[in-house]
Amino acid sequence: MSETESKEPSRRDFIYVATAAAGTITTAAAIWPLIDQMNPSADVQALSSIEVDVADVEPGSQITIKWLGKPVFIRRRTEEEIQAARAVDLETLPDPLSDNKNKPNTDASDENRTLDEAGEWLVMVGVCTHLGCVPLAEAGDFNGWFCPCHGSHYDTAGRIRKGPAPKNLIVPKAEFIEDLIIKLG
Ligand code: FES
Repeated sequence: MSETESKEPSRRDFIYVATAAAGTITTAAAIWPLIDQMNPSADVQALSSIEVDVADVEPGSQITIKWLGKPVFIRRRTEEEIQAARAVDLETLPDPLSDNKNKPNTDASDENRTLDEAGEWLVMVGVCTHLGCVPLAEAGDFNGWFCPCHGSHYDTAGRIRKGPAPKNLIVPKAEFIEDLIIKLG
């Protein structure tokens, strides 16, 4: 064994070792949050599916539920809103797809957008498909939703009709599990 190998670490060696160790800790600390985000915590997993009682929602009104960090609109439409949405010529729609997670690859007919066949219930993620603002209800040129951020107009089925938004408001996975209980997710 040479003299160099056998001697105790010099002060300079110690500084190097200490720096290397600190560097390792820093790296580990920086990576942890990324790993942690890849493993949803128990409460996030629990919320990936929620049940909403809509018995108190009157025709012509909506409630907004926060789900998976986003607003979800649950609207009980009036007969007029249903008629207006069903009278639209699909050829005129900027986005021809239903954007309904429950009915993939279907056209944007009103029937393909709503939760029930009669079209009374419309459930949508309340996030403008342009840049993510929350649209206002019963507003805009089509009396559906209006996003004031850059002027996107959605109709009473939540379909984009005018303005910069490229897609209809997204219909999330949802179903009635009881008469007036909707399960999201
Ligand atoms: S974010 Fe809605 S129009 Fe731009």
